[in-house]
Amino acid sequence: MIIRSATPDDVPAIRALEQETDTAAHWAEREYDALFATEAPLRVALVGTSEADRNHLIGFVIARCAAAEWEIENVVVAPEKRRRAVGIKIIRELLVRAQSAGVTSVLLEVRESNTAARRLYEKLGFSQQGRRSKYYRNPEEDALLLTFNIKNLRQFHLEAE
Ligand SMILES: CC(C)(COP(=O)(O)OP(=O)(O)OC[C@H]1O[C@@H](n2cnc3c(N)ncnc32)[C@H](O)[C@@H]1OP(=O)(O)O)[C@@H](O)C(=O)NCCC(=O)NCCS
Repeated sequence: MIIRSATPDDVPAIRALEQETDTAAHWAEREYDALFATEAPLRVALVGTSEADRNHLIGFVIARCAAAEWEIENVVVAPEKRRRAVGIKIIRELLVRAQSAGVTSVLLEVRESNTAARRLYEKLGFSQQGRRSKYYRNPEEDALLLTFNIKNLRQFHLEAE
C-alpha cells in the first residue's frame, strides 16, 4: 500500500467509501470540496492506495489541524481490506506527520459501540480522556473522547518493531 496526501481527484472515491460506511462521519459534498479551498480551515487528508493503481482507494483519514492539537474527523478502510493493518498504518502516518508539525496531541471522538475503531485506537496507544453524553444521533449514543500524546510516538515505534 502507498500512503500519500489526498488530492481533489481523490474526493469522489473518498465520498463513495464514506457513504457506504454506516459508522463513518458523513459530510456534505461542499465540505469535501472545501477540503482543498485556500480559505478553508487547515486539514490533513491522507489516502492509502494500492501500489499497482495509485488511484484505487483502500482507505483514508482526515484530521483538522490546530497549532498544538490535531483532531481526527474521519477514518475509513474499504470493507474488503479490513483487518490487514491498513487503518493502523494510515493513522500511524498521520501521527508521524503531526509530530513533524510540532503537535503535542491528537484527539478524536468515537461511538462507544464501535469496537473495531476503539480497539484500533487502543492498539495505537490512544487513551480515554472523557465521555460526551448522548453526543451522537441516529442512534443516540455517547461519544468517548480519546487522545494520543505525541511524546509516546517513539515508544510506540520501538514496541512495534
Ligand atoms: C475502524 C477501521 C478503520 C479499522 O481499520 P482496519 O484496517 O480494519 O484496522 P487494522 O487492520 O489496522 O486493525 C488494527 C487493530 O485494530 C483492532 N481491530 C480492527 N478491527 C477490529 C474488529 N473488527 N474487531 C476487533 N478489533 C479490531 C485489532 O486490534 C487490530 O489488530 P489485529 O488485526 O492485529 O488484531 C475499519 O474497521 C473501518 O473502516 N470501520 C468503519 C469506519 C469507522 O468506524 N471509522 C471510525 C470512526 S471513529
